[in-house]
Amino acid sequence: MNASVPAFSARLIDWQRRHGRHDLPWQKTRDAYRIWLSEIMLQQTQVSTVVPYYNRFLDRFPTIDALALAPLDSVLELWAGLGYYARARNLHRCAQRVVAEHGGRFPEAAQAIAELPGIGRSTAAAISAFAYGQRAAILDGNVKRVLARCFGVEGFPGSAVTEKTLWSLAESLLPVRNIEAYTQGLMDLGSTLCVRRQPFCSACPMLEICVARRDGRQAELPVAKRRKSLPERETSVLVLSDGRRVLLERRPPSGIWGGLLALPECAVAEASAFARRHGCRVLATQALPALRHTFSHFHLTIQPLLCAVDATVHLVAEGGWQWLDYEDIEHAALPAPIRHLLRAVALRAALP
Ligand code: ADE
Repeated sequence: MNASVPAFSARLIDWQRRHGRHDLPWQKTRDAYRIWLSEIMLQQTQVSTVVPYYNRFLDRFPTIDALALAPLDSVLELWAGLGYYARARNLHRCAQRVVAEHGGRFPEAAQAIAELPGIGRSTAAAISAFAYGQRAAILDGNVKRVLARCFGVEGFPGSAVTEKTLWSLAESLLPVRNIEAYTQGLMDLGSTLCVRRQPFCSACPMLEICVARRDGRQAELPVAKRRKSLPERETSVLVLSDGRRVLLERRPPSGIWGGLLALPECAVAEASAFARRHGCRVLATQALPALRHTFSHFHLTIQPLLCAVDATVHLVAEGGWQWLDYEDIEHAALPAPIRHLLRAVALRAALP
């Protein structure tokens, strides 16, 4: 690169100061607990979605000690709707480890932070930079896109070889000073200008040095993964309801929707026997519109069968089963699609 052309990091820091984001709730603190929480919530989730969850979470758990002492279920309740629930379980485990092994204070070095549950190399670097001003390189999906374009890095960024190249590049670009503005600038550039489709190159601080822009290859870089279509799966679930409550099952701790409450999976032909086992009789059934939800490895079509049951008999709920009052739908640890479905069912029950 021509020595008279300001380098990547200087451009980025200058741009971040003038045009980057400065008012995000987690930018107003150097408390590693708050920064860690924001970074975990922001994995796979947009800023606008995260902000209300972040504020509610901190109202309830203002310190890492409060979080470590809380039952997992109350953590999952506050997480419900954010998705990727392994994050919440790891968050809880991580808080307990930081309290037990580090006296309630996150270690400063990115490498030590990366040994904690649920924290990868890039998230560890972000925490270490934002909370402690440590020089450590981040490399999330957005940063991979920025670097691949600006430096013309070929190869799918998810492949081991290309990822290694990108990590080396990210390390080599770190500024000596102002790591906070630099790190935030990378995130801001990736989410506001250097976006996946139709990047805003004319406003970009890298306009003069970007390889993709020079060669008109913004749409080709980073190289896309060859698309494999996800397998389709189907299941049927029962909405056993006495008009006031609905029967839910606690999912096993690992696997999809781990630890959350969900509708019981059951074949339609088994519905009556299933209801009897839970102390009620099916009075009428109705197929509800199917839901489709995409998980990381498959698409799932969920066919719900609404079963009106008699409310007079003693309803049986033991083990992982729970009769949830419609009034509690908003606060229960439910996956978002199931919460939406139950809202509709509750609304229908409320009609004359
Ligand atoms: N995405 C990941 N970390 C972020 C942060 N600190 N600010 C904005 N978006 C982010």
